[in-house]
Amino acid sequence: MPSVFEETRLASMHLKNRVVRSATNEAKAEKNGAVTGLLLEYLVDLVRGQVGLLISGHAYVAEEGQAGRRQLGIYDNSLLPGLQHLTGVVHAEGGVIVAQLAHAGRWGIGTGKHAARGPMASGEGVAGRRVLAMTRADINAVVSAFAHAARRARTAGFDGVQIHSAHGYLLSQFLSPWFNQREDGYGGSLENRARLLLEVYDAVRGSVGADYPVLVKINAEDFVEGGLSAADSVQVCQMLAERGVDAIEMSGGTFNTGGLSFARTGDRLSAEAEGYYCGHARRYKEEIKVPLILVGGFLRLSTIQEVLQTGLADYVALSRPLICEPHLVKRWAEGDHVRAACVSCNQCFATNLSKEGLFCKVTQRRQKS
Ligand SMILES: Cc1cc2nc3c(=O)[nH]c(=O)nc-3n(C[C@H](O)[C@H](O)[C@H](O)COP(=O)(O)O)c2cc1C
Repeated sequence: MPSVFEETRLASMHLKNRVVRSATNEAKAEKNGAVTGLLLEYLVDLVRGQVGLLISGHAYVAEEGQAGRRQLGIYDNSLLPGLQHLTGVVHAEGGVIVAQLAHAGRWGIGTGKHAARGPMASGEGVAGRRVLAMTRADINAVVSAFAHAARRARTAGFDGVQIHSAHGYLLSQFLSPWFNQREDGYGGSLENRARLLLEVYDAVRGSVGADYPVLVKINAEDFVEGGLSAADSVQVCQMLAERGVDAIEMSGGTFNTGGLSFARTGDRLSAEAEGYYCGHARRYKEEIKVPLILVGGFLRLSTIQEVLQTGLADYVALSRPLICEPHLVKRWAEGDHVRAACVSCNQCFATNLSKEGLFCKVTQRRQKS
C-alpha cells in the first residue's frame, strides 16, 4: 500500500517521499527575473524540510508573460548561470527540483515594452490595462518560448519541467470558454481550446527529449459559469496522457472564481474540508493511468495518508502549509503528527510586494509577540 514516507520513482526522478511542494511564487528574484541569494536560501530551507519534490514558483517563459514583480524568469539565456547555480545548490542538499514554466497571458503585468496578450482583446487586464488578442504569430511565439524555456531548464540542471496550465493563466485561459471565445482553430470546441496546450506540450517534449520528466498542472474545473468543466478537464488530461505526459497535478479555479479559487479560505479546519479536489481525483483515476499529484487544502498527515492509500492520488502537493512551516514534512517524518499550523488565511499572497518577498504573516506575528 502506498505510504507518504516511501521512496518512489516518478519518470526519471527518485523521490524520498510522496509530498510535493506545489509551485509557489516566491517573489524573491531580481527585477529581471534572475535568481537571488534570497531565493536560494528559501528553496534550500524547503529541501532541508524534506519535501520529496520541489516545484519552483511559476517562471515566466516570455517577458510579456510576466505575472508579478520579482517573479522568477526563464525567458532568456542570460538567466542560465543563476538557474544553474540554483539547481546545483538544491542538488547538493539532496533535493529534486522541477521548473514550473508559465505565461500569464491576459494577466501579464506588462513592462512598458510588452503589452499583455491573451485569447481575446480586453480592456480589463491587470489594473485595467489593455490586453491584445493573440495573433497566429503570437501563438507560434508562445509555443516556441515554452520550448526554449524547457530546454533552458534542462540545461540548467532542473530534474524536470511542469507546464502551468491552471488558475486562469495563458494556457488555462485558452482552455476556458469563459476567457476564450475565439472563432479560429484555437477557440470553440474542446479540441480547439486544447490546441495551444497540446502544441506547447509537443514543442516542450520535442526540445527536452523523451527521457526528461514533463508534468502539467491543470484545473479540475474553473468553478465559474461557462468556464472549463470537470468533464472537459478529464478529456484534456486524456489527450496529454496519450502524448506521454509524465504526471498531472490537479488544481482548480481562477482569480475570478471567488471563494472557489485555487487557494480556498474560510472554515477549512475540519478534516472533511481538506483536499477539495478529491471528488475530481476519483473521476480522473477511473479513466487515466498517468500519475496524479493532488493539491488543494491538505493540512493533516492522516488525510494525506488516506488519499494515497485509497488510490485517489499518487502524490500530494502543498503550498501554503509550507510557507507557514517549511519543515513540516520533516516534522511529520520525525513523528510529530500535529496538523499543519497554516490557517489558510491567504495573507501570504499580499507579501509578494514586501522587500523579502513571500512569507507567512501569521508565523511572523507569532514570532514577534
Ligand atoms: C502565495 C502563493 C503563490 C502561488 N504561486 C503559484 C505558482 O507560482 N504556480 C502555481 O501553479 N500555483 C501557485 N499557487 C497555488 C498553489 O500551488 C496551490 O495550488 C494552492 O495554494 C492550493 O494548495 P494549498 O492549499 O496547499 O495552499 C500559489 C499559492 C500561493 C498561496
